[in-house]
Amino acid sequence: MDISVAQGDISKTEADIVIVNLFEGVKTPSGATGAVDQALEGAISHLIELGDIRGKAGELTIIHTFGKIAAPRVVVAGLGKTEDFDIHSIRNLSAEIIRSCRKPGVTNVASITHGAGIGGLSPDSCAQAMAEGAVLGAYQFLRHKTGSDEDAKAAITQLTLVEQDNTKIESMVNAAERGRVLAEATNLARDLANEPANHLNPTDLAARAAGVASAPNLELEVMEEKEMEEKGMGALLSVARGSVQPAKLIRISYKGRGAEGYDLALVGKGITFDTGGISIKPAQGMEAMKADMTGAASVIAAMQAIAALAPNADILAIAPCTENMPGGNASRPGDVVAAMNGKTIEILNTDAEGRLVLADGLCYARELGARHIVDVATLTGAISVALGEQAYGLMTNDDSLAKRFESAAEAAGERSWRLPMFKEYDDQIKSTVGEIKNTGGRGAGSITAAKFLEHFVDTTPWVHLDIAGVDMASKDKGWISKGASGQAVRALVNLALDFAVD
Ligand code: BES
Ligand code: MN
Ligand code: ZN
Repeated sequence: MDISVAQGDISKTEADIVIVNLFEGVKTPSGATGAVDQALEGAISHLIELGDIRGKAGELTIIHTFGKIAAPRVVVAGLGKTEDFDIHSIRNLSAEIIRSCRKPGVTNVASITHGAGIGGLSPDSCAQAMAEGAVLGAYQFLRHKTGSDEDAKAAITQLTLVEQDNTKIESMVNAAERGRVLAEATNLARDLANEPANHLNPTDLAARAAGVASAPNLELEVMEEKEMEEKGMGALLSVARGSVQPAKLIRISYKGRGAEGYDLALVGKGITFDTGGISIKPAQGMEAMKADMTGAASVIAAMQAIAALAPNADILAIAPCTENMPGGNASRPGDVVAAMNGKTIEILNTDAEGRLVLADGLCYARELGARHIVDVATLTGAISVALGEQAYGLMTNDDSLAKRFESAAEAAGERSWRLPMFKEYDDQIKSTVGEIKNTGGRGAGSITAAKFLEHFVDTTPWVHLDIAGVDMASKDKGWISKGASGQAVRALVNLALDFAVD
């Protein structure tokens, strides 16, 4: 989607649809909405009087203009109650508007910037939220759709934010561009996660990462199994053994500062399909496991945005990628393997494979000099029992990094929720045969998974995000799209930007 900011008057703007807005309870529209109302000879006020337009949050009313203004249609978007209105309302509304305007014959939409100047919201942050929401709301996964469904093919290709005040335009252009970059990266993560596993194995994922890393300021490494063996990555390789597809460990480096090591490493779980292995999953719903590489997709996609926004920081992405299959050479329950740091792991359940591949991913991030680590993984079913679709789990060994991440997520309109890491949970994963075991029993499944990972970060400040409850959404809602949701991508980018030094 092309997004521009133009100086002008929305009532005179040419577009397939122009968008104005209304707070709940307003009887006489003012500002841009008032100007359009006047040009339409009071059509909007009339609809308010009739009770057809009430300004409720998310209410969208289409009015045909019959030549009274340049655009053939006006949409009045409800902003809801002033006291409930914030930057997140703008992002969500923008997504819903684009979704509802998408139909054959509509490609070009012009809008006022909702919220600009209201309740202390800067025009720039509103322009960013509008752009973000629009690009996120426009998302569809159509790669495998054949046939000629006209509705599915309709796409809005141009959004113009129309602003009266010429002095605001330049910084709004930059803000909108930033929003577009963040949202395009999120859509890339969605595309990767939505892709069926027969179209996206570890080799395919590495090829997609190479596409991202073709940006001039990124560097790519795809580590093959031979080198994993040399490095002693026995945990990752133990998962890969069950599949005929070779494992790949993807590294993308961004050196914006050019210091030693990395300010931040993003480590993402890349299981391109999780059958459970020998501890095989039930058939019902197993297709969702094509998205078990959402962590990897998120960190790869985050690097695309980081490269485009070019912060003065050094950022690393690591994605250990493999299938979890029950092949003839697969790991068995009871097997003992050693990770790159030498720790021995008793595999009690081959379906607890995410923590195994992350173990070596985390060790590798530390070897490369990561000073802070955030891992992101569809790690446990237990996290969706705890939090459902409304938040992802956050577990940490470092309060201050956790707080930094929480503000980054807040700014993205995402919810993370902290779970405790009491040392007593460690007892649940002590092994009698090896050092630790890969399952901790029924209680606190998400926490014991995090406790397992903690063995591989040592004392490096670290945040673990368990996105297994939110990676796939059951319906479109605001900026979130049905299917791969795109959660965590913008939060990760925001955090990376927070590491920029002047
Ligand atoms: N990929 C799954 C977790 C998952 C479940 C993601 C549902 C998305 C939706 C993970 O590899 C897994 O199988 N975890 C097991 C761990 C258990 C065997 C200790 C789980 O949560 O059941
Ligand atoms: Mn599993
Ligand atoms: Zn898994």
